Amino acid sequence: MKGVFITGTGTEVGKTLVGVGIARQLDQKNITVVPRKPIESGCIRQGDELIPQDASALRDAANYRGPLSEVCPYRFEPPISPVRAAHLANKILTTEQLVNICLQGSEEGFLLVEGAGGFYSPLAENGLNADLAVALQLPVLLVARDQLGALSQVLLNVEAIQMRGLHLAGVVLNAVDDEQDDHMDNSADLRERLSCPVFTNPHVTTGIAELPDTLIDSLTTRVTGTPHIRAVR
Ligand SMILES: Nc1ncnc2c1ncn2[C@@H]1O[C@H](COP(=O)(O)OP(=O)(O)O)[C@@H](O)[C@H]1O
Ligand SMILES: [Mg+2]
Repeated sequence: MKGVFITGTGTEVGKTLVGVGIARQLDQKNITVVPRKPIESGCIRQGDELIPQDASALRDAANYRGPLSEVCPYRFEPPISPVRAAHLANKILTTEQLVNICLQGSEEGFLLVEGAGGFYSPLAENGLNADLAVALQLPVLLVARDQLGALSQVLLNVEAIQMRGLHLAGVVLNAVDDEQDDHMDNSADLRERLSCPVFTNPHVTTGIAELPDTLIDSLTTRVTGTPHIRAVR
C-alpha cells in the first residue's frame, strides 16, 4: 500500500500544514490522495455538526471526493487529547476501529494519514499514534518545529520509530516561528546523525507550504531497510 503516516514531535508543530502541502502537490501530479484523520479533537461546532479543521483542510487539499465523515468520523469538541475527549463523550475507541477508518476506501489511492499529537500520544483506548502507524505499516514522516531543542526531540522520535520497525520517510524541520538564531543549523546537525532525508520547510505567511520535490517524489517511490541513526553522539 502506498501512503504516509504523518506524525510529529508534538502538537502544533506543522503536521497539518505539511500534510496539506503533500496532498496538494500529489494531487497536482494527478495522484489520487485518500486523506484520513480518523480522530480529531478541538472541532468547531456548527449547529448540530462538529467540524474537524485538520480533516477538512486535508480533504480540500487532496480534492477528495468522499465525504468528510470518511476522512474523520470521530470528532470531539474539547481541545484536549482525543482519547480523553472521547471519554468525556462516553466513547471508547480502539486502534482497530481507527485502522478500519483509514483502510476503507483507500485501495485506489495514496493513503495520507495524520495522527494526533506526537508519535507516543494516545490515539485510542488501547494504543498510541505509534500503534496505528504499525497496524497500517505505512512509512512515517516526522515533523518537528525547527527550534532550539529540536535535535533531542527528533532523535528520540527517530529511535522510537525505528524500534517499532517502521520505515522513516524523512524528517521535516518546520519553521513555525518567523525568527531564528542565525547560528543555529538543526538540519546540518541532524544530517550528520541520520541516514534518512532531512527536509526543511520555511516559515510561510500564505498558509501554504511548498514542499521540496525530492520529498514528494520519495513518498511515491518507497525504499526500505536503511538504518535511521548513524550514531548518537
Ligand atoms: N512553516 C510555517 N509557517 C508559518 N506558520 C506555520 C508553519 N507551520 C505551521 N504553522 C502554523 O502553526 C500552527 C500549527 O500548525 P499545524 O499544521 O496545525 O500543526 P499540527 O498539525 O502539528 O498541530 C498553525 O496555525 C499553522 O498555520
Ligand atoms: Mg494537525
